[in-house]
Amino acid sequence: MNELGMPGLQEYIRERASQVEAELRRVMPDEWSVPATLSEAMNYSLLAGGKRLRPIFVLAAAEAVEGAIDLVPAALPVACAIEMIHTYSLIHDDLPAMDDDDYRRGRLTNHKVYGEAMAILAGDGLLTHAFYSVVQAARRHGVPADRALAIVEELSAFAGPKGMVGGQAADMLGEQGLTKLEELEYIHLRKTSDLIVFSLRAGAIVGGASPKQLEELETFGRCIGLAFQIQDDVLDLIGDAAKLGKPVKSDEKQLKVTYPYFIGLDASKRRIAELTEQGKAALEAAELANPLRLQQLADFLVEREF
Ligand code: IPE
Ligand code: IPE
Ligand code: MG
Ligand code: MG
Ligand code: MG
Repeated sequence: MNELGMPGLQEYIRERASQVEAELRRVMPDEWSVPATLSEAMNYSLLAGGKRLRPIFVLAAAEAVEGAIDLVPAALPVACAIEMIHTYSLIHDDLPAMDDDDYRRGRLTNHKVYGEAMAILAGDGLLTHAFYSVVQAARRHGVPADRALAIVEELSAFAGPKGMVGGQAADMLGEQGLTKLEELEYIHLRKTSDLIVFSLRAGAIVGGASPKQLEELETFGRCIGLAFQIQDDVLDLIGDAAKLGKPVKSDEKQLKVTYPYFIGLDASKRRIAELTEQGKAALEAAELANPLRLQQLADFLVEREF
């Protein structure tokens, strides 16, 4: 607790992450008949831990809009949806055809345990089920249908070919051939910022944010999402694999052009700090009822070691 009787950020993160995890465990209807290996492979990666950053952003954005009303239960199915999409993107990102990595979230990668076919299908299953989960916000938790519809549309756009999948494709096509920082920025904005932008906008939509608030939150997400991926590049170079739960030097192995490769470590760190300040200015301009957690999360990410 701090002096205002409010839980500290670490406690807030722990509490929200455990709410998300409890919900993720019961996200598939019990009466569905699903091949046991498929559901095991999906849960293997989904329930392996991870920071749960994107779902926490969904919940924190919902809470930020209407400080007084507890919007967490209504936003939880949307929070689970983005964690499912993110986890699917990681399973596919680690495949031999992509980054070919053996460890993720502190355990062997999905394909190392279940084989490539089942890893691909586990990703497909998580991707599809995410949309089922968003709809449950309206069916079971009273989110107005027009808000759920807007979230479905945004999820397809930010996670799909114009968003994260587009970024991953550009990352694969780019590998050795990138010559401009703007090209790398495009990749980072698509493959990483877009899911973070979605998380913030979707949580705020659940809370009934205004178009101006959504726009400022989008700028906030774009800035801190880019900072997040630059930090991921930095940690790939100088981080600790045990803390990260994934290998370091993966980018070097794949001959990836990254921020530190382009502008060096010190300039990368300066850019992270600059983007975070820029993001926080947009957050302030959003004039949300309760922006404190979002501000704290932005600062927390600058210092992260995992
Ligand atoms: C890893 O994301 C992939 C990137 C976009 C950099 P996270 O660092 O959020 O991974 P988890 O969810 O904590 O495992
Ligand atoms: C992955 O970027 C981004 C997505 C999975 C969308 P990276 O390839 O750098 O992520 P890590 O380092 O494997 O987590
Ligand atoms: Mg990758
Ligand atoms: Mg990777
Ligand atoms: Mg990386």
